[in-house]
Amino acid sequence: MKTILIVGIGTGNPEHLTVQAINALNRADVLFIPDKGAGKGDLAELRREIVARYVTNPAGRTVEYGVPKRDAANPDYGAGVDDWHAALAGRFEALLADVPDGGACAFLVWGDPGLYDSTIRIIERLGTRFAVEIIPGITAIQALTAAHGIALNRIGEPVHITTGRRLGPVHDDTVVMLDGQTAFLNADPDLDIFWGAYLGTPDQITIAGRLGDVRDEIVATRKAARERHGWIMDTYLLRKRD
Ligand SMILES: C[S@@+](CC[C@H](N)C(=O)[O-])C[C@H]1O[C@@H](n2cnc3c(N)ncnc32)[C@H](O)[C@@H]1O
Repeated sequence: MKTILIVGIGTGNPEHLTVQAINALNRADVLFIPDKGAGKGDLAELRREIVARYVTNPAGRTVEYGVPKRDAANPDYGAGVDDWHAALAGRFEALLADVPDGGACAFLVWGDPGLYDSTIRIIERLGTRFAVEIIPGITAIQALTAAHGIALNRIGEPVHITTGRRLGPVHDDTVVMLDGQTAFLNADPDLDIFWGAYLGTPDQITIAGRLGDVRDEIVATRKAARERHGWIMDTYLLRKRD
């Protein structure tokens, strides 16, 4: 049986890798690096850097694969995702044919594989022919709260995690990910926002304050950074003022 290691690599800092993740990468005969196309080269480059820095197993070789584009009309986790998962499952199947019998391969997954990532679900589509191990990673949420020097939850309080598209009225403390639409512009201006982009990388940017006071600065900073890098990943926490 072949083993598939789904390894969380953290959110942009090679030092986010756990010892467990490094050991898993060194068990792999093949390490898969996704190429998400124009403008996302930095993300593939970070994975290459991780392999160069931590993989000492001479048998481990790297294979890059193209990620099929998602329907532009459905840029996040809405309708159309099933077709996209099916396309990726087909690609994974072809990649796995290259892994030796009894050997192992690793998928290097951004952040933690269990948070807004499809790899686990896509691998599940391949059935039970493979042994699957999941190695957790540092998420964008942990990188965000650490960068702001805050705790995620208030004492004994719940936390809600959602996407920009699904952001509604904020009752509990709310973390927003996958927000290409700057959904915070429609939120109550009296909330506090803790915003971060490129968290964990040398380009990390953070802004915090009363939403009504800092939202224009976030929009302008976000736009300029996106133009500079060709891509942006940002996450934020909205919370009622104490
Ligand atoms: C497809 S999800 C992947 C989440 C990832 N699995 C995790 O554990 O954080 C992509 C979203 O994660 C957030 N994200 C990932 N890396 C980030 C970073 N370095 N800085 C800020 N947000 C990040 C953004 O909200 C982005 O839209």
